[in-house]
Amino acid sequence: MTKKYYIKTFGCQMNVYDSSRIADMLKKEGYTETNRQTEADIVLFNTCHIREKAAEKLFSDLGRAKLIADERAEQGHKTIIGVVGCVVQAEDEQIIARAPYVDFAVGPQMYFRIPEILRQISAQKEHQSVVDTDFPAISKFDFLPENKAQGACSYLAVQEGCNNFCTYCVVPYTRGAEYSRPVADVVAEAKRLIATGTIEINLLGQNVNSYHGEDENGHERNLAYLLHKIAELDGLKRLRYTTSYPADMTDDLIVCHKDIDILMPYLHLPVQSGSDKILKAMNRRHNSGDYLRIVEKLAAANPNLRMSSDFIVGFPGETDADFQQTLNVVNQVKYIQAFSFKYSRRPGTPAAVMENQVEEKVKKERLDILQTLLFDYQTKFNQACVGKVMPVLFEQKGRHKGQLIGRTPYMQNLHIETNGANINKILNVLVTDATTNSLSGKEI
Ligand code: SAH
Ligand code: SF4
Ligand code: F3S
Repeated sequence: MTKKYYIKTFGCQMNVYDSSRIADMLKKEGYTETNRQTEADIVLFNTCHIREKAAEKLFSDLGRAKLIADERAEQGHKTIIGVVGCVVQAEDEQIIARAPYVDFAVGPQMYFRIPEILRQISAQKEHQSVVDTDFPAISKFDFLPENKAQGACSYLAVQEGCNNFCTYCVVPYTRGAEYSRPVADVVAEAKRLIATGTIEINLLGQNVNSYHGEDENGHERNLAYLLHKIAELDGLKRLRYTTSYPADMTDDLIVCHKDIDILMPYLHLPVQSGSDKILKAMNRRHNSGDYLRIVEKLAAANPNLRMSSDFIVGFPGETDADFQQTLNVVNQVKYIQAFSFKYSRRPGTPAAVMENQVEEKVKKERLDILQTLLFDYQTKFNQACVGKVMPVLFEQKGRHKGQLIGRTPYMQNLHIETNGANINKILNVLVTDATTNSLSGKEI
């Protein structure tokens, strides 16, 4: 019987990408995927450390995995439990101290060692956890096996890590310094994805627009160059990139939104706060004026472009007046989607030890106010789409028979009733209904 693996992924798209590359590696080793933990020979958790809640969730999942592993052991099946991702990088040996039954814990740069570690564990006479949180001298991407498209939409990591050190954020510590893959490697991967069924590529990076990979002649190239290169590839219908750092929105990148027709008119550009005082304390390299000027330039390049953002409320020192400035930015940009969070104190980051921490109650009140405003703009935009015809890329089947779920150019979820034959295609759809979170429509 073939051995099976189960992966649960937390956190950002980079983790989703990493999980699919780990899956490629396990498939190459002869494993097949299962979505049932009870039948998995390997159970993997790909973890996120960005906020306290995300990290804590791991330990409840691990507890459950241990119970399942014990039940399986009674039936004579061995289960290997592995933890990968940013919690591993941050907590290192502490994971094993808290959950000694974990077989291996591997940080985001060392995934390529998983097959070797699995063999090492299989050969063990008695349980001994393996931990690896090194940052190798060579890029992890060079070791991962070649990947195939997993559907019509694929992520493609072009950049990893961060040098920005926003004072609240763990990413520079968990993912390390910025690294950009060479242009040729990215183009080769894009071609492979297209050849195996992808029609939409989303270029990924923690700061994707700080991309500075080398071309064949050893020249550094930026994201604008890379977007043009990929947009030229035959068969690709849609292109996106995420997540961008405002200070790295160069003019040539902005102009791509006018010049590249397959570049979708939607940009995730996290502002975090509208208060210049807070932005400074966060160590962001933009103030609210800089940010709004970028938004204006983008609108001039492509009047159809719409924005989304991330926000943090209750950063240390944030007053009601600072928070009001965040609301002002929302009212100016009119985001069509957004993620908003209460500030979470992360050990080892500068903001965690700032003295003027904001009370939990105040954070919650501000988050409620902000989210009400954000949802209002999101709902209004969705409602304004009713009656329009939009090209929708259908990627998955819905819960009901014959239902398909797809994405509009603006990343809205849209569902239609159909005969099911249209998966992985772009169809023109008349939007008939809208809620805060999704649209529905009819094929025309
Ligand atoms: N590189 C991206 C974001 C990566 S983390 C950028 O610079 O925009 C994703 C989001 O999590 C951040 O945009 C931020 O809004 C949120 N976040 C990060 N650290 C946080 C913390 N300590 N508390 C609350 N939210 C946080
Ligand atoms: Fe974190 Fe800031 Fe880097 Fe984004 S830019 S990953 S928020 S440190
Ligand atoms: Fe989380 Fe790591 Fe991504 S901390 S948000 S999984 S880079």
